[in-house]
Amino acid sequence: MFRPASRLAPIGVSEILKITGLATNLKREGKDIIVLGTGEPDFDTPDHVKDAAKRAMDAGATKYTALDGTPELKAAIRLKFMRDNGLDFGLDEITVSAGAKQVLFNAMAATLEAGDEVIIPTPYWVTYADIVLMMGGKPVLVPCRESNGFRLAAEDFVRAITPRTRWVMLNSPSNPSGAAYSEADYRPLLDVLMAHPHVWLMVDDIYEHIIYDSFRFATPAALEPSLRERSLTINGVSKAYAMTGWRIGYAGGPSALIRAMAIVQSQSTSCPSSISQAAAIAALDGPAEIVRERCCSFQARRDLVVAALNKIEGVTCRVPEGAFYTFAGCGGLIGRHTPDGQRICSDSDFAEYLLRSVGVAVVPGSAFGLAPYFRISYATSVSELEEACRRIALAARRLT
Ligand SMILES: Cc1ncc(COP(=O)(O)O)c(C=O)c1O
Repeated sequence: MFRPASRLAPIGVSEILKITGLATNLKREGKDIIVLGTGEPDFDTPDHVKDAAKRAMDAGATKYTALDGTPELKAAIRLKFMRDNGLDFGLDEITVSAGAKQVLFNAMAATLEAGDEVIIPTPYWVTYADIVLMMGGKPVLVPCRESNGFRLAAEDFVRAITPRTRWVMLNSPSNPSGAAYSEADYRPLLDVLMAHPHVWLMVDDIYEHIIYDSFRFATPAALEPSLRERSLTINGVSKAYAMTGWRIGYAGGPSALIRAMAIVQSQSTSCPSSISQAAAIAALDGPAEIVRERCCSFQARRDLVVAALNKIEGVTCRVPEGAFYTFAGCGGLIGRHTPDGQRICSDSDFAEYLLRSVGVAVVPGSAFGLAPYFRISYATSVSELEEACRRIALAARRLT
């Protein structure tokens, strides 16, 4: 009999997988299902990036590369950090992995002892907590109120810190809430960090380039240089350049941490894909217009979805600053009954009702540690979004 390792025991099957599994089954039965669950841009990888990959293959770049990134890609990342963030990392302070997810995995594997605590504001990308659990650490989930823009409040942060706190994990703009931290939003949290020198800071900036209106992106290591020696700034090409399948993520941080992360990588994937690394250089060094154009398209879709959701009685939706998700409240619908007499007791019930009754797959907020909400990914066509919002409104109206 197969027996999984005990380190997997605390990691359940995510709600996201459950809802997407159900959506897939219904689709297979021939039902008309609109899936608003995917976490990737619907655009294609830009042509100049694909061309760079083809050239790299033809030039023989098809072998193992340097362990945590080619010097050429690290140089492009160094330039990116300087250009976009005003951060000056040496090449020995930069690491490249198979996606930001592997960067996170390496960092946690390289630093956590059993029982070490990692503060994770909720709603959060579930991967953060699952990696911590897999490494024997303890995720300390700290709810972030909608009234505070789903951002971590300094007083809640202070309260969560113990002598066992190893890291705090921040993500801006956020998956799932789309909330982002401005320089002013970060300041009180940085003050807390300065007062607690044993706490390290991991920031996930993967949605950096998907920001709207006049919001100005900020990243903590640039705002507070004295925190640089205990900060890991994570980013990647997946979201900005529609390169989720190429699997390239990277980070900048103190060289001792970067070296420890390389040890983890050396015994897992050896190095990131040689061809994808060449493609990532073209993405980072390439024209910024394409990223801006796509961002405008996302913004139009955000506006469409937020406006439509806010028209639904019982649903409220904050305007997110970035990423391609809305995180709408459905508290006004909890306690109501479906046409066939089922009571909606939670956001999971509401998500399942939407899927079964009108064929729209959304992810319940409880899957991200904050209820009652539901997440919509609007990285899909305008016509699908319009139809999905029409169906959600219809389903909500039918509740009594
Ligand atoms: C907040 C966040 N960080 C990181 C990632 C993973 O990115 P990558 O494709 O670089 O592993 C995702 C993917 O959904 C994400 O939402």
